[in-house]
Amino acid sequence: MLIVANWKAYVEDFTKAKHLMSAAKRVASRSKAAIVVAPPAPFLGALAIGNRTKVAFSAQDVSVTTGGAQTGESTARANMAAGATYAIIGHSERRASGDTNQIVAEKLSHALAQGLTPILCVGEKERDSEGRYLAFIREELRSALGAVAVKDRSKIVIAYEPIWAIGKHAKDAIRPHDLTEMVLYIKKVLAELLPGKSAVRAQILYGGSVEPEGARDLAAASGIDGVLVGHASTDAAQFSAIIRELT
Ligand code: PGA
Repeated sequence: MLIVANWKAYVEDFTKAKHLMSAAKRVASRSKAAIVVAPPAPFLGALAIGNRTKVAFSAQDVSVTTGGAQTGESTARANMAAGATYAIIGHSERRASGDTNQIVAEKLSHALAQGLTPILCVGEKERDSEGRYLAFIREELRSALGAVAVKDRSKIVIAYEPIWAIGKHAKDAIRPHDLTEMVLYIKKVLAELLPGKSAVRAQILYGGSVEPEGARDLAAASGIDGVLVGHASTDAAQFSAIIRELT
């Protein structure tokens, strides 16, 4: 199980960041799960420096540029240097701020070029009865993975985050059956894009709303390999409870 804590911009206080980190490290030391924390960029280096624990770090995004005269950008390389080993790419909140499929594909290439493991987010805004949302997911996957070398595609973790489920309470989010169907669909699309049989081993996370209640049943029923947790990961007790539920 891969459990990713995306703190988004909920954490703006460094004392709170350190408190959440200590809790994540404690629970990680007792858990079989791989735990990854994605703090806001200004805290990444300070939290990751000298880290010898099981917790790994992720950037919440990387720049589409690769350095130079680019005020305000956080490049993949700088994130790697600050201690990240993962990078969330194409989160719906970044896509809503202008990241097109092409920008997502470029960011993916930059992350891979630096040796970061990308967590590529895909997800539809809404569902329709004709199944157009499936074609939408397929296009997001094809345009992103299609832009990188075939040999690198199996390094990418996929996070399925139905936008309509984000920020909701988990009980109002996705039904296990619908998630199972989507995991199978994503694997089918990956089978067309990944070399050999590597789609079978692809890691697929659920990034809709995840809370302790129902997490175990959702994971068991759907065949996901982990979760990308938003708001609940900024509450130490809730995040620890999610990890306990899932492992
Ligand atoms: P949430 O966010 O858990 O706060 O709904 C999930 C996400 O953005 O992936």
